[in-house]
Amino acid sequence: MSLKRSTVQQLLSSQELDREVLVKGWVRSRRGNKYVQFIIVNDGSTIHTIQAVANAEQFSEESLRDVGNGACVAIRGQLVASQGKGQAVEIQATEVTVLGKADAEAYPLQKKATSLEHLREIAHLRPRTNTFGAVLRVRHALAFGIHKFFNDRGFYYVHTPIITGSDAEGAGQMFRVTTLPPDNPPRTDDGAIDYSQDFFGKQTNLTVSGQLEGELAAMALGSIYTFGPTFRAENSNTARHLAEFWMIEPEVAFNELEENMDLAEDFLQYLVRYALEHCPDDLQFLNDQYDKELLTRLSFVTDNAFQRLTYTEAVEILKSAKQKFEFPVDWGTDLQSEHERYLVEKHFKKPVILTNYPKEIKAFYMKLDEDGRTVRAMDVLFPGIGEIIGGSQREEDYEKLLGRMADMHVPADELSWYLDTRRFGTAPHAGFGLGFERLVLFVTGMSNIRDVIPFPRYPKNAEF
Ligand code: 4AD
Ligand code: MG
Repeated sequence: MSLKRSTVQQLLSSQELDREVLVKGWVRSRRGNKYVQFIIVNDGSTIHTIQAVANAEQFSEESLRDVGNGACVAIRGQLVASQGKGQAVEIQATEVTVLGKADAEAYPLQKKATSLEHLREIAHLRPRTNTFGAVLRVRHALAFGIHKFFNDRGFYYVHTPIITGSDAEGAGQMFRVTTLPPDNPPRTDDGAIDYSQDFFGKQTNLTVSGQLEGELAAMALGSIYTFGPTFRAENSNTARHLAEFWMIEPEVAFNELEENMDLAEDFLQYLVRYALEHCPDDLQFLNDQYDKELLTRLSFVTDNAFQRLTYTEAVEILKSAKQKFEFPVDWGTDLQSEHERYLVEKHFKKPVILTNYPKEIKAFYMKLDEDGRTVRAMDVLFPGIGEIIGGSQREEDYEKLLGRMADMHVPADELSWYLDTRRFGTAPHAGFGLGFERLVLFVTGMSNIRDVIPFPRYPKNAEF
């Protein structure tokens, strides 16, 4: 009977000893002497490794020649209580097969620590490191937790398009999608590129957000969420921006701003708790390795209510702050991340939800407040991150929405489909967008967003 493979995770948590097991994975190291060799293997199922012990009577020097750092091996043997320190169980090897050799000299992941910057240049191999293994497992757990949170609460997952025919939302600069020849595209009589001859018969782009389509779905299904890739061609070379990132956008019929804030706060606290519960070893590793405050900071988010205040109140606080800011603050200006971080990290020392921003600095679809100066926007600000969520109650009134579009030069004819929701059975509704990588950044305590997505896309970088 062929033996089924066990994962390292299964073996390490197994109570059943003295049985034959088979493990497959990548060698992290091999050391020993002429009597015994220790082979350390990781298979990605956990941050931990398992040790296999190969005795010289059974294994010649020659037979272990290719069992080096980076090689892929299958090891068969007895699972036994470990005699050494540092692990509870180990494998007394009876058979070691090299599935894939790795030239130890050329293997880019050497035993001594490699910088995160260097690892970014070998992004195809970095999942083999402890750090990226941990980050990717946490990323998975958070994605799974997001679906679970919404599914348990009766939300439907809606797939909004990635290629969009609308460029009207104005959430950012867009990437064009075209099959027209770049050197010699067809032109109209007045010399402009003739998109009527393009693949879709019109100009198309990669989406910056699924919100507008999400709103349509919420006006039929009640509570929905999207979770997909979004693309922004802005030239932001920061540790918190990507050109391709994943966004989660819930949209709920009948919710107003207050309920939208409650949902965002519940959601974030749930996700942080979910990660703490499901990834304790990975988070402990990241805490010890990179950021000694990580676990404290995570518990802080789950244990404390977020501070809610209006933009106007925040501006007052910032104006009377002793700290010097690079960008001056005055009512009407957009807040910079230095301002957001001051509020969160210095002033309130907890997550903050800012609401009711001036209408001029927010999108056309946000509901106008009674005073006509502010809109029902909400941004959730997190320590070390700044804005993690942006959202609002939506303008459900057809005439007011048309007015806002005219004010902000958003072409109404291109968004007739969106306006139809306000013509046929409109309802108050609200939603928000959570930047998935900013969440993963916060939960893992990494300092650069390029290190929490397998293959980051940013200006001048689209390798792999
Ligand atoms: O604030 P934003 O632009 O809001 C929207 O797109 C709305 N349509 C959301 C909604 O109401 N349904 O983006 C939402 C979030 C930000 O708070 C931030 O976390 C993240 O998306 N984000 C980015 N993350 C990484 N790289 C970028 N370039 C990002 N731009 C926004
Ligand atoms: Mg925003």
